[in-house]
Formats: sequence, structure tokens, C-alpha cells
Amino acid sequence: MIHASAPGKAILLGEHSVVYRGPAIVLAIDLRAHIWAEEREGDGIWIEAPDIGVSGHFDARGRYHPIRGGSERWRSLNPIRVVALEAMRRLEAHRGLRIRVESEIPPAEGLGSSAAIAVATAAAVGRLLSGEELSLGEVCEIAYEGERIVHGTPSGIDNHISTYGGALRYERGRGFERFKVEELPLIIGDSGRRRSTGALVAKVRRLWERHREVVDAIIDAMATLSEEGYKALRGGDLKRLGELMDIDHGLLSALGVSTPELDRMIYAARSAGALGAKLTGAGGGGCIIALVEQPDRGRVAEAIRRAGGRPLRAGFTDIGVEVEEV
Ligand code: MEV
Repeated sequence: MIHASAPGKAILLGEHSVVYRGPAIVLAIDLRAHIWAEEREGDGIWIEAPDIGVSGHFDARGRYHPIRGGSERWRSLNPIRVVALEAMRRLEAHRGLRIRVESEIPPAEGLGSSAAIAVATAAAVGRLLSGEELSLGEVCEIAYEGERIVHGTPSGIDNHISTYGGALRYERGRGFERFKVEELPLIIGDSGRRRSTGALVAKVRRLWERHREVVDAIIDAMATLSEEGYKALRGGDLKRLGELMDIDHGLLSALGVSTPELDRMIYAARSAGALGAKLTGAGGGGCIIALVEQPDRGRVAEAIRRAGGRPLRAGFTDIGVEVEEV
């Protein structure tokens, strides 16, 4: 049996604008998705996701047969099937498979849960079928197929960070640059509200269609913020980085993707001493990130809790996808 795991992510700057142009700055976080894959007699793919109480079998014709959870739950397992089929297609190896998924990443909350599952699936199934590890580039491309099923036309930022880990400056069409981050003292605040990245990207797209000049100007400003934030981060200027995060949150609000819950956590974190705070990911629910120096961490975590959120212990990690035989 093969086990693979891949990290979730937090976007520091550049969500939404990265779908159009300009860079985003993204960090891998040490919450991981785990996949176990093995061959199984018979046709099709059996998938078990005990965290969400779902398991079922997709037969060779793609029909879903539920084992646990209703027949409508095929949707939550389908991205895993699509990634496994893409790996089989590329490797020209068609087998029956059993796949189990478990994840530490809260799903549908902007922390890259679906990408981490897709990346770990691509790596595990790829290794199982070929007997050797696929290149990281191949894993990343195969995982993108699953991401397209979940999110429509995502920028690719999530599957990249989950594959490579660390800190990335990512720009659609131009690729990514991995860079070193010594220490970045972040606190994530979880609103507990799930949302759909695809729906939020579509919401911004509709706003852009109605007010092109205005939204283009906002996106240009966000791209500049990401560039400046990247320089501040590399230069170790956390105070400046925090201010840029605050400005970016204002622009994300202007695009209509913040919520009262997120704003409450953000203002609470800032008042308790955070150097900067903003939503992270697509917004509409999900999470915030606050940049918080050591002496203020307890106070900011408590302020997030009092504002109705859940502070998450999730640090930065350099470790991307990992695969092992078990
Ligand atoms: C989602 O993690 C980030 C967005 O920019 C969408 C994307 O880049 O695909 C909102």
C-alpha cells in the first residue's frame, strides 16, 4: 500500500487578483491531507472518506454505488476519482483501486484542503501504478485536473503550494518561484463557515463584467501589493508586510468577498496587537490570517476567539508532498 500526504496553504497576499494577473504570495502550512492507495480486484475505484462519513464505488463506466452516505455524496469523492483516472491515463495503467482519504485541513475554508487531497492522490496513485515516484511537476499537473472539477478554472496556486511546500511567489502563466522564509509568525482564525471557491471567483468575475475599469484598477493595486509584500517579506520588514495585508483586505472587501464574521475577527486581531490581518483564500467565510509577533500571540488568539472564531495552531512548513510504501 502507498501512503502520501500533502500540506494545506494560507495565501498571504494576492487571492482573487492572481486569477487575473499579478503574483500571489502563498505559504504551505503544517496541516496535511493523507491518502492511502492500493490495488483492488475488479473494475473501478473504491473510495473511503471516514472524516465526512462517505464511502462508495465508481464502476468502470463511472457510475457511483454508495456504500456509506447517500448517492448524492458522489460529488465529494469525484475529484479523487478524476485525479486517479488522470494518473492512470498518463501512465497507461488501468487497475481497480482502493483509496482512503483523511485530512487535518478544515474543508472548504480557504486552506487548500481539496488541492492537498488531489496532490496526495496523484502522488500515491502515481507511485502505486508506476512503482516509482512521479516528478513533482507531474504530480502538480495531475492534481490540477481534480482542482478543475472542484473550483472551475482555478489559478493553480493551491496545487502548486501543496506539491512543493515552503513559500511561493506564484503568477499564473509565469509559474512560480520558491523562496526562503526564516520565520513568519502567523495566526489563522477559522470562522467555521464553509463556502465554494468557484462561486466566489464567479462572483468577482460578475463584478468585473459590470464595472471593468474599476475592478481592473483594484486588481492592478492588488498585484502591486503582492509585489511590495514579497519585497517586505524577503527583507524581513514585518511591520510593512502587516500594513500591506491590511490594505489588501480593504480591496478584497471592495470586491465583495469579506463577511461580517471575517471582519469581526480581523478588527479584533488588529486591536489586540496584530501587525496586520486579512481574509485568506477566496473569502465568503473560511479563514483569516493575522501577522502577530511573539509577545502578542496569546492576546490576539483570545481576541479572535472572543470575536467568534477559532484560532488554529498551524505553522509554516517547508515540506511539500511526501510518498512512502507502508
Ligand atoms: C483560492 O485559494 C484562491 C483564489 O485566488 C482562487 C484561485 O487562485 O484559483 C480565490
